[in-house]
Amino acid sequence: MRAGIESGAVRVLGVATGSSPLPLYRAIRAPRPQSIDDVEFFALDEYVGLPPGHPENYRVFLERELVHPLGLDPARLHVLDGGAADPDAECRGFEAALGAAGGVDLQILGIGSNGHIGFNEPGSSPTSRTRLTALAERTRADNARFFDTLGSVPTHCLTQGLGTILEARRILLLASGPGKAEAVARAVQGPVDPAVPASYLRDHPDVTLLIDRDAAAMLTTEGAHR
Ligand code: GLP
Repeated sequence: MRAGIESGAVRVLGVATGSSPLPLYRAIRAPRPQSIDDVEFFALDEYVGLPPGHPENYRVFLERELVHPLGLDPARLHVLDGGAADPDAECRGFEAALGAAGGVDLQILGIGSNGHIGFNEPGSSPTSRTRLTALAERTRADNARFFDTLGSVPTHCLTQGLGTILEARRILLLASGPGKAEAVARAVQGPVDPAVPASYLRDHPDVTLLIDRDAAAMLTTEGAHR
């Protein structure tokens, strides 16, 4: 990824939040690639209903991890506004900005324990676009570790759609730990269907998985489903 930024191949970087990309963001920060100033950043998703400065607000997260330490122009970070009065207009505006920037060159993804990508929960359509949607209870429970109580985890979010994510030219999915093993195995070797949103990555021509042994533990050497 650093090479892509330095060579100019990555001018639009799609960024995920959560714990999975943290080592990657650390690696981008030092040494600082000079051409990082030319990169536009588009976030995958955002909670609805968190106060603007909340530490789990994804804009705050990305400013903390990337914008501030790299000294980037904050205008280059595009994050859906979870407090927008008109969420549909907010989502349309985000898609328009993404299109105007030329689309995502490299999309960084994590994966939820239920196979979600972004906040596209099981049942999401592969052609879905950026939208307001509800969080699965499993996702709320998984993410409760970042909040004081389960009750304070938002119930809704704005997320890029699966169709939006799949338009990225290249995708890098990061997963680690045993909690991701089932989702990784179902995404890679189970049926391609809405029960596991990440399974639709198999319809994309350029996806790389970077996973540790624990996350790979349920992959089999038997033939994949297709
Ligand atoms: C979160 C985010 C996703 C992220 C995933 C995994 O809820 N919306 O973008 O990839 O769940 O998170 P983590 O990397 O912390 O396991």
